[in-house]
Amino acid sequence: MLRRPLHGLVRAVTLALLAVLVVQHHAIVEAEAATGWPANMRTQLVAPAIVYLPRERKAYVFGGRILTPLTHYTDVAIIDLAHNITGADADSSAISTAPFSLPIADSSLVPLAVTRDKALNDVYDVWLLGGMATGGPLRAFAVNDLLRAKEVTSVGLTASDASGQSLGGLIVGHPGRSGATTPFAPGASNQLGTDPAVYAFGNWSTVNNTLWRFDKSAAVRAVAAGTTLPPPRGFSCMVRYDSLRVVLTGGNNGNNTRLKDLWTYNLVANTWSQYSSPLLVARDDCQLAVYQLPDKSASYLLIMGYTSNPALEYVNLDSGDAPRAAVLSTADTQGPESVSAHAMFVHDSHLFLVGGVPTALLNIIKIAPQNDGTLAFAWVKTYVPSAAAGTNTTAAGNGTTTDRAATDGTGISAGAVVGISIGTVAGMGLLGIDDST
Ligand SMILES: *[C@@H]1O[C@H](CO)[C@@H](O)[C@H](O)[C@H]1NC(C)=O
Ligand SMILES: *[C@@H]1O[C@H](CO)[C@@H](O)[C@H](O)[C@H]1NC(C)=O
Ligand SMILES: *[C@@H]1O[C@H](CO)[C@@H](O)[C@H](O)[C@H]1NC(C)=O
Ligand SMILES: *[C@@H]1O[C@H](CO)[C@@H](O)[C@H](O)[C@H]1NC(C)=O
Ligand SMILES: *[C@@H]1O[C@H](CO)[C@@H](O)[C@H](O)[C@H]1NC(C)=O
Ligand SMILES: *[C@@H]1O[C@H](CO)[C@@H](O)[C@H](O)[C@H]1NC(C)=O
Repeated sequence: MLRRPLHGLVRAVTLALLAVLVVQHHAIVEAEAATGWPANMRTQLVAPAIVYLPRERKAYVFGGRILTPLTHYTDVAIIDLAHNITGADADSSAISTAPFSLPIADSSLVPLAVTRDKALNDVYDVWLLGGMATGGPLRAFAVNDLLRAKEVTSVGLTASDASGQSLGGLIVGHPGRSGATTPFAPGASNQLGTDPAVYAFGNWSTVNNTLWRFDKSAAVRAVAAGTTLPPPRGFSCMVRYDSLRVVLTGGNNGNNTRLKDLWTYNLVANTWSQYSSPLLVARDDCQLAVYQLPDKSASYLLIMGYTSNPALEYVNLDSGDAPRAAVLSTADTQGPESVSAHAMFVHDSHLFLVGGVPTALLNIIKIAPQNDGTLAFAWVKTYVPSAAAGTNTTAAGNGTTTDRAATDGTGISAGAVVGISIGTVAGMGLLGIDDST
């Protein structure tokens, strides 16, 4: 008779104890981790790849290169978006070195992240498509359970053309790619295949207009996307605009002409269509991100790279409007004139520009929607998390880089709750407590 209540008490005490242990463990890990940007990234951070986790308010920064002399590196950094972050502070305590690095130095990686399971919704598996900036054949890396990972491994890559013929030693140089992604929802199936996928377009220096699809079996294949295709190019930029569309723009046509045509690839129809207006200016080595209004009533494509005139332009693709030049306020701080070859993502109504040329570590732009449908932008010296940021976040859904607000309504993210229960289950096993009695 006494067993049950006692058992309950033992369990409650064990839980409390474990909670303390978990907290202490985290404190120790944080104290030990070197803070600030890794040494190579401080030298120059060109073409990193980012996995942005809106729920955990973290961004993992994978690899990069130094331009002179050309050097790729294996560094991985973590940006903790729950803290104040001063962009220009290389020693910022919000930045740490990850407990793992790439097995091979690389940059311009194409990241893919997938939430493993509905019940364990903070378990993210990551695949990185590489070899596109180093002149060699494509290769792939994988990270199992990103938040708890101790290593990045090399995994075998398979490549095929649109008819399924295997392509050994496939070389794709500097394609259009998004440097940043968010995790796909668990079990999300994807058009043109059963797994979620990310896309890259074109080639350098033999320019091409093949759309490449990379999925979590580390398979790359050419997509046969109809007869209307964007013209061949290298160094363009792409982003997942929403669950239906991938956007492509910019790049160099191989004859030293930069491009400004804007295209959307529809994942369901498997067709490309050209947007009614081009960019205001031609760009290459550009990057794209998506900003969604807080009330989710509209999304805007943000385009940056190559030129300072304007440094940033934006367009709501559903409006049919032409892109607009962003006016960037310098009241708080003077940002760089332009940034190229960076990676960027939107978090908490701020655009985070990671790396790039001219040499930059982190630059931050605050975005403020105006009543007339335009957006106002301002460089900020220090990002200060808003009160609402991070409470109430939902699982990421479709690989877009928009951060998202709202739904579980508990004030503590489901990820944190699950994290505690995983720790508990593992701890129970270690302590030899048999929960079945
Ligand atoms: C973050 O910055 C804000 C605004 O400057 C300040 O009020 C707050 O104390 C800072 N938080 C930390 C932890 O430094
Ligand atoms: C891309 O360009 C490189 C360099 O010219 C070439 O070796 C490679 O075969 C090209 N790849 C494709 C898919 O066209
Ligand atoms: C692009 O590369 C693919 C794969 O090598 C090839 O089949 C295709 O003909 C190329 N396209 C152009 C426009 O060169
Ligand atoms: C590039 O220039 C060559 C030689 O003038 C020409 O044959 C080719 O069509 C041009 N390609 C593009 C994409 O303009
Ligand atoms: C993408 O996913 C987010 C979050 O799940 C959702 O709010 C948004 O509507 C999705 N976009 C589309 C076009 O389905
Ligand atoms: C959290 O979500 C609930 C339910 O959707 C909403 O009412 C509340 O305003 C949200 N809180 C914040 C801080 O966004």
